Amino acid sequence: MKIAIVNGPNLNMLGKRNKDHYGTLTLDSINQLLVDTFKEHEFTFFQSNHEGALVDYIQTLDCDGLVINAAAYTHTSVAIRDALEIHSFLKVEVHLSDINNREDFRKTNFIKDVVNCSFFGKKEQSYIDAVNYLVEKNKFLK
Ligand code: DQA
Repeated sequence: MKIAIVNGPNLNMLGKRNKDHYGTLTLDSINQLLVDTFKEHEFTFFQSNHEGALVDYIQTLDCDGLVINAAAYTHTSVAIRDALEIHSFLKVEVHLSDINNREDFRKTNFIKDVVNCSFFGKKEQSYIDAVNYLVEKNKFLK
């Protein structure tokens, strides 16, 4: 399975961000964890702090499944939502923290309606759960 992992703003700073919300792993470590856990699958990784760069990248995607952590853009970006909506492959959103039990502004979510499933609140395990979901769901599409 070809799986794209897309991460939004400030996730390149994982390791230095609030550990209670985001855990201790860097983004490179999370990506490596996915490669090591799902050896038989093919990953591509992309991170940007820029909304337009994320939109450009999402538009070009050709994969079987996408995991996106749009980070702060989750709560603000119609443009990322619209780019995601274009694609019919499996899509899941992830968050390291529990966005529904933090500040009220994090409860606004422009992404959740255009993805198949959401995983949040389990730090790096959210990414593992998301990829597991894609792999299992993909079996039924074959
Ligand atoms: C986040 C949650 C967002 O609210 C926040 O802006 C982030 C990371 C998470 O993974 O928990 O940058 O998406």
